Amino acid sequence: MNSRIPVAIINPDAPPGSLEAKQPQPDLGVEIYPKEQYWSREYMELEWEKLWTRSWLLAGVEADLPRVGDFFVFDIREESIIVARTEQGLRAMYNVCPHRGARLVNVERGHGNLFVCPFHSWSFHNDGRLRSITDQAWFRPELIAHRPGLKPVAVEAHAGLIFVNMAENPPPLREAIGLPEGYLEAYRLDKMVVVRHVRSEWGANWKVGVEAFYESYHLHAVHPETRGVMGDLNVQYDLYPNGASRMIVPLGQPSPRIKDQSVNEGLRIMLAEAGIDPDRFEGTAADVRRAIQKAKRERAERLGLDWSHFTDGQLTDSWATGIFPNVQIGLHPEAAFVMRFLPHETDPERFYYDTITLMHPVKDPHFKAPDWMGLPEGTDCTGRMRPPTEHYGLGEDPHLGLVLSQDASLLPVVQRGMKSRGFDGQLWSEQEIRLRHFHVELERRLRS
Ligand code: FES
Ligand SMILES: [Fe+2]
Repeated sequence: MNSRIPVAIINPDAPPGSLEAKQPQPDLGVEIYPKEQYWSREYMELEWEKLWTRSWLLAGVEADLPRVGDFFVFDIREESIIVARTEQGLRAMYNVCPHRGARLVNVERGHGNLFVCPFHSWSFHNDGRLRSITDQAWFRPELIAHRPGLKPVAVEAHAGLIFVNMAENPPPLREAIGLPEGYLEAYRLDKMVVVRHVRSEWGANWKVGVEAFYESYHLHAVHPETRGVMGDLNVQYDLYPNGASRMIVPLGQPSPRIKDQSVNEGLRIMLAEAGIDPDRFEGTAADVRRAIQKAKRERAERLGLDWSHFTDGQLTDSWATGIFPNVQIGLHPEAAFVMRFLPHETDPERFYYDTITLMHPVKDPHFKAPDWMGLPEGTDCTGRMRPPTEHYGLGEDPHLGLVLSQDASLLPVVQRGMKSRGFDGQLWSEQEIRLRHFHVELERRLRS
């Protein structure tokens, strides 16, 4: 690697090999990838064959299946998969009746130990086994001798996240994710509750979505209001096996791009959220992040939360963590923002941005999800009721707060621009190294 290119390191004292330490960075070169992959239908089909139908895909979260009998449906393109918690554990199966092909379950989630087909009322156990065939005597016995049930799909859970894989013999999930042991587990996502779920449709290829969320290079231009509170040039980018990656975005410090290094309004809000009276705060802007960490650590102790395994940095910073191909999770000890970028059924120039906000249900007036997650005022964070998924269509505001509205408006601008004959393909900086890493992995999968 060119040694003149700057590298940001969040915590120079992080022990080598620890989760916070800067990972050794391979030289990924300077190749420019063909731009047609963002709109070509051929490429979209190739992705379907080689990527979507052969990868572990995040289907949902364990918080949505607390009891035996709970189920949810995961749709991707023309496929629909039921994921259910049964007596025997998690099960996944194609959401299609073997009789005449009717879609069996037509709600997003629910509870019940049986699925009954809406067409001729065949019924199935929640693990997919056939239970009953209506008017069975009218069928020639040899046609139904195999007792047709729902076709199984591989399913595994890790750290509170549930993944499915349509391949026949997929590799173990744990290995496929590529993140170090303990990385996701530390956040106890399995103990969190879903406090919001929003699915919005955006006018760009799904990869344009992934890419926008994989770098902090655009923050100053697209999200100027973050400059007071996010150290966008101090972001540490790390690459892991199998396309996984993360960026650590330091929060509670102004961007080094701006001159004003005073304790600005944004920092004052963050101090107040951590329980520090901003009027009494005597430090400078450079002291804010540290002060918040200290206050949060003390509060966690007071509330009886075991945060001993989190570094100080984890208490303030966003560990934005990508799982190949289409997931990024903004990880914080209090809350996690799970983003999923799903291809549109037929149009390579649209995608669904599916976001689930998870929170630890802790009673304390200051214990909140970070502002950037855009939780509306008055959101019920007790976990008493799983809120219904909110849906927003193409061109509608995604109702996820200012930052994400800015992204939703910007992405179609990128999608349209790239198609020009005046554009030769993306030129990624080392701040965009996660994008290159993503494309190296994507190419590897598509060529396999
Ligand atoms: S299609 Fe399901 S019972 Fe006929
Ligand atoms: Fe953005």
